[in-house]
Amino acid sequence: DRTQVAIIGAGPAGLMLSHLLRLRGVESVVLESRPRERVETRQRAGILEHGTVEALREVGAAARMDEQGLPHDGFELRFSGRSVRVDMQELTGHHVMIWAQTEVTKDLIALRLEQGEPLLFEAEVTAVEDVETDTPLVRYRHEGAEHVVRADVVVGADGSYGPARRAIPDRLGRRFERVYPYSWLGILADVAPSSHELIYARGRTGFALASMRSPSVTRAYIQVPNGTDAADWDDEAIWDELAARFALDDGSFTLERGPITDKSVTPMRSVVSEPMRHGRLFLAGDAAHIVPPTGAKGLNLAVADVRVLAEALAEWFATKDETLIDAYSDTALRRVWRASHFSWTMTTMLHVDPDGDPFDEQLALAHLHHIEVSEPARRALAENYRGLALGAI
Ligand code: FAD
Ligand code: DHB
Repeated sequence: DRTQVAIIGAGPAGLMLSHLLRLRGVESVVLESRPRERVETRQRAGILEHGTVEALREVGAAARMDEQGLPHDGFELRFSGRSVRVDMQELTGHHVMIWAQTEVTKDLIALRLEQGEPLLFEAEVTAVEDVETDTPLVRYRHEGAEHVVRADVVVGADGSYGPARRAIPDRLGRRFERVYPYSWLGILADVAPSSHELIYARGRTGFALASMRSPSVTRAYIQVPNGTDAADWDDEAIWDELAARFALDDGSFTLERGPITDKSVTPMRSVVSEPMRHGRLFLAGDAAHIVPPTGAKGLNLAVADVRVLAEALAEWFATKDETLIDAYSDTALRRVWRASHFSWTMTTMLHVDPDGDPFDEQLALAHLHHIEVSEPARRALAENYRGLALGAI
């Protein structure tokens, strides 16, 4: 088999790339190791930046989002028993959209299959070879047989544990990593959100986040120790902890409780692998970088990467001009490091470090207080949260 671009991974990065390339006249094959149902149901991100929303519209996968997604003009920060609202719309002229990763992938998959374009599930890539030549290849296992795809270009959009990154020799790259001393316990519950906007709270015993999936489904997270087993938390204990962390001194907040339908634990870490290209292999999304989820940047970065990459590859296929593909890694990494810094800021400002000292605690509170009293501080936060435009960084 032969194609122009072999894409490994049908997460947001791989799927979006296949659509952007098709619109630019470039053909691709998408290979995904997991079953379709697993990709479509695994609970992950919930917030889309304006640029991500635009990309979904451009490829024609936005109809359900535009009908059912929830545009949010602002969000709330809570600390020391009080609340600060960050009005993104007023401060930056943009809002964000609540629309789950599960729904993003469902629509991108349905559209791809409708178009009759190649997208294989349960196709596990086992090797990426010859990336330093003009004819790189990908080996994969599908329905019990071994297959090979030869391509002009291979894109590793295979997430944090995928095989693509390993095709870049260690001596050519650098890897930066930060592991945080806490994890998130995330829940999904059949109850209306307790607030119409997201609440990011620094409670006395740690971070909590109130989010939503729809007007009748709540999504929430609490900071828990690393190594926590979700099964060790019963539902009442989770609700009690959420209520304590969101509580306001004036007693004006009430948390609505309901049946919990999903529980999972996510460790918090930051990773950046440089460069994002070696020869004919390009990395995009979590395959090249992970951010802790506090800034809601993971999925948005994945989509921003492939918007830059699609433009660069289309230009190269059309003209053989290498300027944009040569710039891809540096261009993408500027946004990645901006998001890594923002995610680190949000994470350390809002979590309680179990090994931290009272000095750390005061610094975090001083940062929150600055945001409370200063409009420029709120504007900087809002600008990062809603995401910088493509080309602005
Ligand atoms: P992925 O979505 O990981 O897609 C990669 C795909 O490649 C996967 O489907 C995988 O099965 C496939 N693959 C891997 N190996 C192979 C192989 N050998 N052959 C073929 N296919 C392969 N971000 C937020 O913004 N907010 C959140 O709340 C949030 N929560 C998260 C919770 C968890 C548990 C995790 C893991 C991530 C979370 N993220 C969150 C991050 C966000 O979901 C990711 O940044 C986003 O999914 C990145 O998209 P991607 O396409 O790069 O990678
Ligand atoms: C959600 C996740 C996040 O990490 C975040 O910052 C905001 C919302 C969510 O899953 O809804």
